[in-house]
Amino acid sequence: MSKVVILNHPLINHKMAKIRDKRTGTKEFRESVSEVGGLITYEITRDFSTKPITIETPICETTAYELEKQVVIVPILRAGLGMVEGIHNIIPTAKIGHIGLYRDEETLQPHVYYAKFPKDIAQSTVLVVDPMLATAGSAAKAIEIIKQKGATDIRYVGLVGCPEGIERLQREHPDVSIYLAALDSHLNEQGYIVPGLGDCGDRLFGTK
Ligand code: PRP
Ligand code: URA
Repeated sequence: MSKVVILNHPLINHKMAKIRDKRTGTKEFRESVSEVGGLITYEITRDFSTKPITIETPICETTAYELEKQVVIVPILRAGLGMVEGIHNIIPTAKIGHIGLYRDEETLQPHVYYAKFPKDIAQSTVLVVDPMLATAGSAAKAIEIIKQKGATDIRYVGLVGCPEGIERLQREHPDVSIYLAALDSHLNEQGYIVPGLGDCGDRLFGTK
């Protein structure tokens, strides 16, 4: 069974309060989502392997360490885009793929409309990024497509999840670790996370 990490960190919780508050406007919402993306990255990367390199400091030669594997960030459009800048600031050498999915509002089924990945995705550590893990239909589909490209080292990174989404993602992709800023109570009849933060894409891009 995959690892589930709920960050529950004071700084992240502080920013999540802003993100959840319905009075928070688009600019502050977007900035906070990106910042939490950056803060989560420290935990996601905690067990990344490194390789020794020899460098010279101004004082002497020494052994230093750099990341061993290429990292690829794959945001699920649209809302995943909101977390990319924050993560990329922490891992500037990461490449970025994109996967376009939207959830049918009636059936809640994911529909794929775009997919583009770096050529070396199969050898990379892939961070699938989407703030909301609701039914997990979108995340499960995105990961299925990424696995078809040969990737085997995949982590899911989000802001808010619920037990239903975690259970499904673990069932369909037991090899994929799940990192979330917060775990909420449940899904409502419309497939929204409760208490959640509303429609993340609309709040990021001001489309409602
Ligand atoms: C939202 C969110 C996830 C999906 C989560 O996207 O960003 O991708 O819903 O729901 P699920 O876990 O039930 O699949 P949405 O489909 O609203 O598309 P958008 O970001 O383009 O608005
Ligand atoms: N997508 C969102 O943007 N919010 C939810 O609560 C569920 C899915």
